[in-house]
Amino acid sequence: MSVLIKNGKVVTVESEFIADVYCEGEKIVAIGKNLNYKADKVIDASSKLVFPGGIDPHVHLDMPFMGTYSSDDYETGTRAALFGGTTSVIEFILQKQGDTLHNALKTWQEKSIHKAVGDFGYHMAITDFNDDVAKEVVQMIEGQGITSFKTFMAYKGVLMIDDGQMVQLMKVVKKHGGIVTVHATNGDMIDSLIAKNLAAGNTKPIYHYLSQPEVTEAEATGRFCDMLYYTGCPGYIVHLTCEGALNAVRERSLKNQKIFIETCSQYLMIDASLYDQADGAKWVMSPPLRQKKDQEALWSGINQGIIQVVGTDHCPFTLEQKDMGKDNFAKIPNGHPAIEHRIEFMYSEGVRKEKISLNKFIEICSTNAAKIFGMYPKKGTIAIGADADIVVFDPDKEHVISVNTHHMNCDYSGYEGWKVTGKIETVLLRGKIAIENNQCHLKPGDGKFISRGKSSMVI
Ligand code: URP
Ligand code: ZN
Ligand code: ZN
Repeated sequence: MSVLIKNGKVVTVESEFIADVYCEGEKIVAIGKNLNYKADKVIDASSKLVFPGGIDPHVHLDMPFMGTYSSDDYETGTRAALFGGTTSVIEFILQKQGDTLHNALKTWQEKSIHKAVGDFGYHMAITDFNDDVAKEVVQMIEGQGITSFKTFMAYKGVLMIDDGQMVQLMKVVKKHGGIVTVHATNGDMIDSLIAKNLAAGNTKPIYHYLSQPEVTEAEATGRFCDMLYYTGCPGYIVHLTCEGALNAVRERSLKNQKIFIETCSQYLMIDASLYDQADGAKWVMSPPLRQKKDQEALWSGINQGIIQVVGTDHCPFTLEQKDMGKDNFAKIPNGHPAIEHRIEFMYSEGVRKEKISLNKFIEICSTNAAKIFGMYPKKGTIAIGADADIVVFDPDKEHVISVNTHHMNCDYSGYEGWKVTGKIETVLLRGKIAIENNQCHLKPGDGKFISRGKSSMVI
């Protein structure tokens, strides 16, 4: 199949220019003015933006968590991602404590390979590190195309590893050219605050927020950076939410340039005042939403290049699942639905409201994730030879976010009624039409596993 996208404004990190883009098979073959190719399909992109498919490196699909499973699986989740212009996601394999990485990989392959509609890779979450797991880490990097390793400094007894394990893991990962990623919050402090609040009869969602004050994130973030510096390992902090944690990295980055930061669209847009509402459980996530001053700090961090990526931490639970914690905030499954709206949100809230440039928008939604996680330039840019993962975007179209129109398998939206300017119109995944006229044209199994290499952001 061949596709010719005509007269769009092509946007990359480096430039924006009016051009045609010609794709043949899975690849971009030519970019230029008035291209003279006969294509199976021609798309008129006049007055539209044409940019690389989004990459969301932080999503949880069919995730076993807090006594249930996140409500989007690989089929519904990657399809919703495509509707939102995200052509690739990186999801998390969770090692079971006491079990092998290979067993976990097998479980995740069964969840994903025949179900994914869009492309996907895996981070491997290390929840139990020892000498045998160290050998498997090397096998993941060298044989399986899994080059990033997720760690948790919280969720003790289920996902958390201690600092000794962290340092040993960093040494192995550094030696073999991978990267360690982290959920950086102080698990012990949080657990004691949760216990104290419950003992005092404080059971409402607001106490989820009050049990994870900013210092719990700032402390763990700084500690993680110090361990990176000590081991020389590159690292990536997921879902950073607040000024204190950002400043902890800012300070460490004076002597360590191998730290990358992701924030998520929700931390830039909504704040902790939502926890006062009767339906506050909808936004219970970890770390929790913060304050307006933190949003300002995060937007600044993006423009200063200290924050390189905006993901979603998509981890939806239905209202019935959220109800598991109606009498105890600590039992509310953590996470909210977000995979579908990240790109439209970052355009509408970021570019249109003049918080970030159009080029920065491409950088944080696609290109930097491709570079940090070893997929560039196959993914993350519009260039000859790259995968034809392309979004055609109407920058002026206004619409309203609603549970009635979203495609995520979740019976509420955390953004009901939110007005957005800019709409995903057409999406190509490796040269195939994925989304057109509000329909998905791909099926389960059309999404392919992305075997990743070493980060091109680390020397
Ligand atoms: O609340 C969240 N973030 N749920 C998913 C698990 C995690 O910590 O990322
Ligand atoms: Zn997390
Ligand atoms: Zn997460």
